[in-house]
Amino acid sequence: MATSIATVAFEGIRAVPVDVQVQISPGFPRFNIVGLPDKAVGESRERVRAALIASGLALPAKHISVNLAPADLPKEGSHYDLPIALALMAAMGAIPADMLDKYFVLGELALDGRISRVPGILPAAIAANGEERGIICPAACGPEAAWAGGEIDIIAVESLFALVNHLAGRQIAARPVPQKALAVEGEEDLADIKGQELARRALEIAAAGGHNFLMVGPPGAGKSMLAQRLPSILPPLDPREMLDVSMIASIAGTLRNGALSDRRPFRAPHHSASMAALVGGGHNARPGEVSLAHNGVLFLDELPEFQPQVLDSLRQPLESGQTVIARANAKVTYPARVQLVAAMNPCKCGMAGTPGHTCRRGDKCAADYQGRISGPFLDRIDIRIDVPAVSAADMIGRGGGEGEASASVAARVARARKIQRDRYLALGAEGVFTNAAASSRIIEAVVDPDAESRALLLRAAEAFSLSARAYHRVLKVARTLADLSGSEAVKKTHIAEALSYRLNMTAA
Ligand SMILES: Nc1ncnc2c1ncn2[C@@H]1O[C@H](COP(=O)(O)OP(=O)(O)OP(=O)(O)O)[C@@H](O)[C@H]1O
Ligand SMILES: [Mg+2]
Repeated sequence: MATSIATVAFEGIRAVPVDVQVQISPGFPRFNIVGLPDKAVGESRERVRAALIASGLALPAKHISVNLAPADLPKEGSHYDLPIALALMAAMGAIPADMLDKYFVLGELALDGRISRVPGILPAAIAANGEERGIICPAACGPEAAWAGGEIDIIAVESLFALVNHLAGRQIAARPVPQKALAVEGEEDLADIKGQELARRALEIAAAGGHNFLMVGPPGAGKSMLAQRLPSILPPLDPREMLDVSMIASIAGTLRNGALSDRRPFRAPHHSASMAALVGGGHNARPGEVSLAHNGVLFLDELPEFQPQVLDSLRQPLESGQTVIARANAKVTYPARVQLVAAMNPCKCGMAGTPGHTCRRGDKCAADYQGRISGPFLDRIDIRIDVPAVSAADMIGRGGGEGEASASVAARVARARKIQRDRYLALGAEGVFTNAAASSRIIEAVVDPDAESRALLLRAAEAFSLSARAYHRVLKVARTLADLSGSEAVKKTHIAEALSYRLNMTAA
């Protein structure tokens, strides 16, 4: 007779039910696992065997077959250890099988029978809740599972031994409680930045509307500094967004102690990052940086130093808000709606355009360096500004006077974001919270330029041969400028300012 235990496999951030079936039959002693297991699942045999011995159970000297159904779905990861061990124990009569059929079981076993943390508990618990099941998971992942809802039955235990005790009613494991990550105190503040009024304004606009943003300037101008302070002016995640962000972090195994955070993610991959690291994929089709930055910021510092193909692989997620990773037998989709922030020097020596400086290689220096970034990639950037260096003399001359602090900028950003959210909610635009995320149809409906603005747009479009995408993106930035100033209508000044951030770019 075969016994079975339910667990899950992951397709993107979706947990798909998987049945772990075990049969013990007379015959040559063998332990086989079938059903498209990857290497980690295959190695499960050794861990399960050792953990059972450590818990006082020896495997029978019989033919043991484990089948992971459905057989055509690839099974990856180490979380199959625990369901395989439980199915074996049920087949051996060590625990009653019917106690477990209302649970999804996930966990990795250590050789001494302890249950170690595994990625993906949050999506698994949400799937379990949807099917009116409970979840059995490692104690370390309990707080994560608890986010799935107050009514879900959770057994979060330290070891196989503790689990058996819990099931027998000898020692009941406490129900875990959802935990929220504590806010980071004393984070970087915009007040640290002296001068750079234009860059600060552009950063505020980008934050308010969720626009993609590029800073170009000489070394030491404060570009990286500005970008790192963007999270300090962004509004916190709402509960829905927080859950989406945490599901991806859970799959990637980056949730700290199972605690969820309402801070927007800020990811800054190094420029040596590979395509798989950035958009996802590779051996286990894990989410990439662009998905880990979902609902937050993807910061690409030293933009031209990234491999051109790697940058271009971001074009599709930047447009569609998701990445699709093709695998041999399936497609995996991850959400990836990010705000892109990038910083670069104007040329290899870093000083092109600075008064009094001539590059040794002349104009070619800047042209070659900037040429590493493709036109279509640049077309996706809404706001481009030059960040000139602030001289040390300037900084001393200012008497160390501070700029405006993040808290007051954040209040203006929050106001503008609320206006956007309310507007798109009233229009019934599902999942659209910022101007940047609005579709072209919606943006045309909410920006109605007057005759003068129209004429200005037409002149700019002809003179700089703006693409249709560029046109819509100018409208989006203009809408944000109007929202920031609390204006219902998008006026000519808004259009003109939005164009100024864009045309800068075509001139590069
Ligand atoms: N506007 C500023 N106000 C205060 N400090 C500044 C400012 N600009 C630069 N600095 C100082 O210069 C340092 C370097 O700044 P940052 O790393 O942001 O430069 P960058 O523009 O990113 O340069 P690079 O192109 O070399 O990466 C900062 O750590 C800070 O000490
Ligand atoms: Mg820098």
